[in-house]
Amino acid sequence: MLVKIIGSAAGGGFPQWNCNYRLSRAARSGMRGVQPRTQSSIAASAEGTGWVLFNASPDIRQQIAQTPELQPLANAPPRSTPIRAVVLTNADIDHIAGLLSLRERQPFAIYATPQVLAALEANSIFNILDPAIVPRRILASTDELAICDAGGRETGLVVDSFPVPGKIALYLEQRSDPGADFSSDTGDTIGIRVSGADARGAVFYVPGCARIDAALRTRLANAACLMFDGTVYTDDEMITARVGQKTGARMGHIAMSGEAGSIAGLADVKIARRIFVHINNTNPVLDENSAEHAAVKAAGWEVASDGMELEF
Ligand code: MLT
Ligand code: MN
Repeated sequence: MLVKIIGSAAGGGFPQWNCNYRLSRAARSGMRGVQPRTQSSIAASAEGTGWVLFNASPDIRQQIAQTPELQPLANAPPRSTPIRAVVLTNADIDHIAGLLSLRERQPFAIYATPQVLAALEANSIFNILDPAIVPRRILASTDELAICDAGGRETGLVVDSFPVPGKIALYLEQRSDPGADFSSDTGDTIGIRVSGADARGAVFYVPGCARIDAALRTRLANAACLMFDGTVYTDDEMITARVGQKTGARMGHIAMSGEAGSIAGLADVKIARRIFVHINNTNPVLDENSAEHAAVKAAGWEVASDGMELEF
């Protein structure tokens, strides 16, 4: 199985259009060791011809342009794509807005939890993807599910999805009650285990996660690879960067550092390769020359960049 991390930044991307924080400024100026990144998505293929996207980011057009494997083959029909299906891990804008760029009456299948499918259903703009051409299929937790294209042909990829502690999508929060608890661990946010027929070990993709609990630690034990929520390094980093009022916890994202952070929480779980994805534009690890980047590497983690390729 091949996996490509086609977008390693969190919502907003890096640099974000309106962000004047030092990291976005550094990325804009081309500073060495500070690479721009597109929004959150990976692509996987069992045999290297058909591909399944995990999340469809608003940057999907750019991501396809940067990824020859996702472009129409030279000898294919006048309208064609190697993208067979899109699996969604939540209904956040950075994970679903790219669906709108996949219009043009091109068959592929969408897989998501009932909650995420309900969000697509409730936003009529997604009707541009005619369900007769782009079927929407339920991703039920606990099943091992063979991902199929629009016509029902197997892609060779099998997923196992499971709810993780998270939050409902930002645009679903009740504006009248900003202090309410919008957290959810019932399928608004999921993690995915993906494998191809010959996959050696389990590969996990969890781009959003609010907390590491015992169930998640047990599930991740002995993984060949984990691509995990790397939104913030410290919980209050958006506040100290003076770009917002929210903590990572309020946004449904665990911090990398600290006693309650992901590095500590997964330190004694046997995982062969651990990679942070969904990295926010305030996270100091985006600067390869930072102490935080060095600390993450010293703890055995990699910091994803766009175009990273993994083979299992
Ligand atoms: C998140 O990951 O918290 C969301 O992408 C935030 C957003 O939708 O802007
Ligand atoms: Mn996000």
